[in-house]
Amino acid sequence: MNLHSRRLPAGRIAYVDGRYLPHGEAGVHIEDRGLQFADSIYEVCAVAGGRLLDEEAHLARLQRSLREIALPMPMPQRALKAVMHETVRRNRVRDGVLYLQITRGALRRDHPIPDYVEPSLIITARPLDMAAFAKRRAEGIAVVTRPDIRWGRCDIKSTGLLPNVLAKTEARQNGAYEAWLVDRDGFVTEGTSTNAWIVTQEGRVVTRALGPAILTGVTRAAAIQALAEAQLTVDERSFRADEAYAAREAFITAATAGVVPVVRIDGRSIGDGKPGPVSARVHALYRASAEHEAGL
Ligand code: PDD
Repeated sequence: MNLHSRRLPAGRIAYVDGRYLPHGEAGVHIEDRGLQFADSIYEVCAVAGGRLLDEEAHLARLQRSLREIALPMPMPQRALKAVMHETVRRNRVRDGVLYLQITRGALRRDHPIPDYVEPSLIITARPLDMAAFAKRRAEGIAVVTRPDIRWGRCDIKSTGLLPNVLAKTEARQNGAYEAWLVDRDGFVTEGTSTNAWIVTQEGRVVTRALGPAILTGVTRAAAIQALAEAQLTVDERSFRADEAYAAREAFITAATAGVVPVVRIDGRSIGDGKPGPVSARVHALYRASAEHEAGL
């Protein structure tokens, strides 16, 4: 650890293109294509007990997103892993989040993808207030629905997140934690930064099938796997807001949040208006398998 990092509070060291720097000194070029075109891919990984949860799955999705937009990896995967771990260590994160972004680098502004690029790699890590997550899990959250106005490749984890930012802001302005996005046919796609799930009156666990309309959530996949190991199947199909209003339970999944119960949608109480047993079970099964895989 250098002198800089010792003096800084936890979570203030960034890795950018080969150097670990205090946030205030770290940066990319003003003509970075990530900044100008959102020509850039990102990942968010939970850190628990100093370890990255679902690390391999996040790296696999990163590789896929990069491939889909023909953006090369800035370094071999093994080296990338080493930098991710070192960033967690330097930031003294036990429980928190790692953020990773790869941009197509700096070039004179011009839309077509240039033949030669030098991608930029940015990695940060910071501790999170886990008590706030625990509180949300205990109390449940409110959700509002909003039209899904995003592009047609939401399976690519790009930083083009303006529709997500606007919808999440509207949610917060309406006393909700998350917005569930609804496609033109009236079906819920996902949350602005989470996958959306319901438990029907018959006890079926339902979440939208994978495709270009949603992000291939790592937590979603891990939860489906953990449920399968407990002999519980998930129906991967679309559902409308009406079906969600009438559900017995609802919940969201994301790397940082894990599984969080939804107790209100558009002002209507879901089930008895309290977090239900299925959400809690999914969370427990998911966490147990993710922690086991991370060697915790
Ligand atoms: N969001 N859907 C969207 C649109 C997301 O942005 C995310 C993740 C998810 C959940 O995916 P995962 O389980 O792999 O975290 C679903 C991250 C956490 C973010 O943008 O901060």
